[in-house]
Amino acid sequence: MKFVVAITGASGSPYAQRLLAALAETEHHVDIVLSPHAAEVAASETGTLLLPDRFPVHPDTTMQVPFVSGSAKYDAMAIVPCSMGTLGRIAHGYSDSTITRAADVFLKEKRKLLLVPREMPWNLVHARNVVTLIEAGAQVLPASPSFYGQPSTVQEVVDTVVARILDHLGVAHALSSRWKDQGAKE
Ligand SMILES: Cc1cc2nc3c(=O)[nH]c(=O)nc-3n(C[C@H](O)[C@H](O)[C@H](O)COP(=O)(O)O)c2cc1C
Repeated sequence: MKFVVAITGASGSPYAQRLLAALAETEHHVDIVLSPHAAEVAASETGTLLLPDRFPVHPDTTMQVPFVSGSAKYDAMAIVPCSMGTLGRIAHGYSDSTITRAADVFLKEKRKLLLVPREMPWNLVHARNVVTLIEAGAQVLPASPSFYGQPSTVQEVVDTVVARILDHLGVAHALSSRWKDQGAKE
C-alpha cells in the first residue's frame, strides 16, 4: 500500500516516530511531509526527529508531489500528531500547503484520512472542526493511550496509540496486546 504520513507541530512526535519505524519494517511505501513547526516541537520532545531512510521526506510548501492530486493512487493519509491549526485548516478547505491540499484530496477522493490530535482540552472551535471532518469522511483518532495492557515504559504507552493508527491504516502489527486476546501481542 501507499501512504502519506504528515507530522505537524502538535505535541506527540514519539507517536510519529514509532508509527514510521513500524511502517519501515513493512513493504508499504510512505511519503512523509513535515509542517514548518514539526521539527521545532519534536526537538523539545525527542530531540532530533528520527525518520526512516527509505521514505522520501517532503516540505510542506511543495505541490510537486503526486499525492496533492486525485490522479495519484494512494491508500491512506495519516496526520500524526495533528495540530488543531492544521485540523481547522483542513475542516475549512484551506489547501495552501502540501499537507492541507493532500488532506483535501483524500477527502474528495473518499480515501482514508486519519487525524491524530493531541490537544487537551478542546474549545468549541476544535469540537466543531472535528465534527465537520467526521461528517466529511475523516477519521479522528485522539492520541489517548490505553492502560489495560499494563504498559510499563513510555514506548509501550506510545505504542497503544500507534497500534490503533496501524489498525485503521490496515497494517498488520504486533505493537501492543489486544483486550482478552490470550496471544498477548497480536
Ligand atoms: C512545544 C509545543 C507544543 C505544542 N503542542 C501543540 C499541541 O499539542 N496541539 C496543537 O494544536 N498545537 C500545539 N502547538 C502549537 C503549534 O505548533 C502551532 O499552532 C503551529 O502553528 C502549528 O502549525 P502546523 O499545524 O503547521 O504544524 C505546540 C507548540 C509548541 C512549541
